[in-house]
Amino acid sequence: MATRTVVIISGSGSNLQALIDRAEEIGIEICGVISNREDAYGLQRAQRAGIATALVDHRQFDSRESFDATLAETIDGMQAELVILAGFMRILTPEFTRRYEGRMLNIHPSLLPKYRGLHTHKRALEAGEQWHGATIHFVTEELDGGANIIQAPVAINSSDSEETLAARVHGVEHRIYPLAAQWFAEGRLRLQEGRAYLDGAPLPTEGYQYHD
Ligand code: GAR
Repeated sequence: MATRTVVIISGSGSNLQALIDRAEEIGIEICGVISNREDAYGLQRAQRAGIATALVDHRQFDSRESFDATLAETIDGMQAELVILAGFMRILTPEFTRRYEGRMLNIHPSLLPKYRGLHTHKRALEAGEQWHGATIHFVTEELDGGANIIQAPVAINSSDSEETLAARVHGVEHRIYPLAAQWFAEGRLRLQEGRAYLDGAPLPTEGYQYHD
C-alpha cells in the first residue's frame, strides 16, 4: 500500500511536481496539498494532477499556535502518514513539530547546518564557498535543524550568479526528495534519538551524500 502523503507548500511547487511525477514508482500517494498562500502555483500543479488541495492562509490567524492547530487538523483530515514540507516558508511551533516527529521531512537549499534561514544561495556565494547544495532533513523544533537524511552537494563555479546556482540546486532537489520519500515509504528510514537511520544503521550526521 502506498504511503499516504501530504505535501505543504508556499510557492512554485517544483519539488511537489517532482514528487507527483514519481509518486507511483516511489510508493507514495499524495492525498493532499496544503498551501498557506492562495497564489502558490503549486496548488495548480496539484489540481492538474487531480489531488485535493486546501488553503490555510496564515493571515487569517492571530497567532502561530492557532495557524498550526488548523494546519494540523487539515493534515490529519487527509489521514497523512508522511508530511512533506516542500518550499513551505513558515516557522512552525514546537507543538506542531512534535506531533509529526519522525514523519515530517523538509528540504532546505543549503548544506545544513550551513546557511539555515533565507537567501542561502547569495550567502554561499558571498562567503566564497566552493560547495553549496540541498539537504533533506527530519523536522524538529529547531529551525532547519533536525537530523539530516540526504545531502546533495553542488560545486560553485566562478561564473555563478545567484540564479544559475539556484537553478542547479533546484535540479538536485528534484532528485533527492523523491529518494527520501521512497526510503520512508519502504519503511527504511527512521528518526531515533535525534539521528536519522537507514536500514537500521545511522546515517552520517551530514546525511547520505547524493551524487548524480
Ligand atoms: C526550494 O529550493 C526549497 O529548498 C526551498 O524553497 C524552494 C521551493 O521551491 N525551501 C526553503 O527555503 C525552506 N526553508 P519549489 O516551490 O519550486 O519546490
